[in-house]
Amino acid sequence: MSSLRFPENFLWGAATAAYQIEGAARDDGRGPSIWDTFSRTPGRVHQGHTGDVACDHYHRYAEDVALMAELGLRAYRFSIAWPRIQPDGTGPVNPRGLDFYDRLVDALLARGIDPIVTLYHWDLPQSLGDRGGWTNRETAEHFATYAAATYGRLGDRVDVWTTLNEPWCSAYLGYGSGVHAPGEQDPAAAFTAVHHLLLGHGLAARALRAAGARTIGITLNPADVRPADGSSAADAAAVRLVDGLHNRIFLDPLLAGGYAEDVREHVGRIVEPTFVRDGDEKLIAAPIDLLGINYYQPTYVAGRPDGAGGGGAYPGTDGAVEFLPPVGPLTDMGWMVEPAGLTRLLERIATDYPGVPLLITENGAAYPDKPGADFPGGPSQVLDTDRIAYLEGHLRAAHEAISRGVDLRGYLVWSLLDNFEWAEGYRRRFGIVHVDYLTQRRTPKSSARWYQEVISRNGL
Ligand code: FCB
Repeated sequence: MSSLRFPENFLWGAATAAYQIEGAARDDGRGPSIWDTFSRTPGRVHQGHTGDVACDHYHRYAEDVALMAELGLRAYRFSIAWPRIQPDGTGPVNPRGLDFYDRLVDALLARGIDPIVTLYHWDLPQSLGDRGGWTNRETAEHFATYAAATYGRLGDRVDVWTTLNEPWCSAYLGYGSGVHAPGEQDPAAAFTAVHHLLLGHGLAARALRAAGARTIGITLNPADVRPADGSSAADAAAVRLVDGLHNRIFLDPLLAGGYAEDVREHVGRIVEPTFVRDGDEKLIAAPIDLLGINYYQPTYVAGRPDGAGGGGAYPGTDGAVEFLPPVGPLTDMGWMVEPAGLTRLLERIATDYPGVPLLITENGAAYPDKPGADFPGGPSQVLDTDRIAYLEGHLRAAHEAISRGVDLRGYLVWSLLDNFEWAEGYRRRFGIVHVDYLTQRRTPKSSARWYQEVISRNGL
């Protein structure tokens, strides 16, 4: 295949999230989060795995940053655990929690790695969960207070501030399907949470802006929704419906001034949207400087009156939509591998919502990597050729989008380390670095060495 060069200053990096890697669940005054509660509840997470220890990154961050530097990463996206900063979600700030991120940021900067902060990657303080979590409007206000407090400590050194990671998951998987914390199954709650998450973004973005933040954004996981049959009107209608519930419900209020009429109508059939108050949409629509895109696989749908729909994750799609099973070869998550979906998605967003620079804040794949026979003795190796193929395909797809004019600023691989993959626990390995959970030993996989080369060449 031909060699490809990326634009100068293309931001190469990797991503993680606090609950998935930090461990140290009770250290230095950290309060409990809804994910602590959820993962400690029998039956919620594979084999009862929790984030109590995870990759112990809280204590090993210096080693991990050294590894990032060795791989040549230019950027590192991590999330801040709100329950470390405000153990109860409101009230006094816990300086020891902030100290950790202070040390992490300094370690990154010392190695020339740009920190990219995510303020919320799903670990809501449990006391806010007890008060309704994201179904309670006050959570959005508390989020802005927490954002401002965190900026106050790190804002002098961190340039890029993103508010939420994948509010689709927080709302629909947390309150609709119940697969994620807090594990509710209530379509009305899911839509209420969507709005309050967006409001939380808007309030936090306003607070960050007022405090002087230069680059403010949000990360979504927009779906590349495709029809089973490109010539079927019924399938096109299914695409429109799913696109509304997955994509436009977030993209329109953030980037086009407010919710679309068809989405409002659909939501209105499930819950009276009294939670949308005057002024909310204006606040949510305040300009942002960056849109983070997480992409893993496309979504294929057909329009069928007997369709099972998408369950709690897509309220109101039963009796209208059939979600097609993914077609192999699949990753260890059972996800499809279709790099062209990334090109389509980036182009679609750049066309329909022009003017916002895009950053791929997550892309990667889980495979059941096993260390080679010589592991952990001599020269360790984990030959993850599937992952290399996945990453290479998606980098080519990203490059294709750039060559078609998309303003794509960078690519962050998910993930630096194998980690706690939410309801799947530790059985899914997304890392370019292998983690042995018994010894906490880190071993860069072949994909890490391959990525290191890509970064040093700024291309493929
Ligand atoms: C995304 C999450 C991330 C990780 C990947 C595989 O939805 O943002 O934390 O779990 O999926």
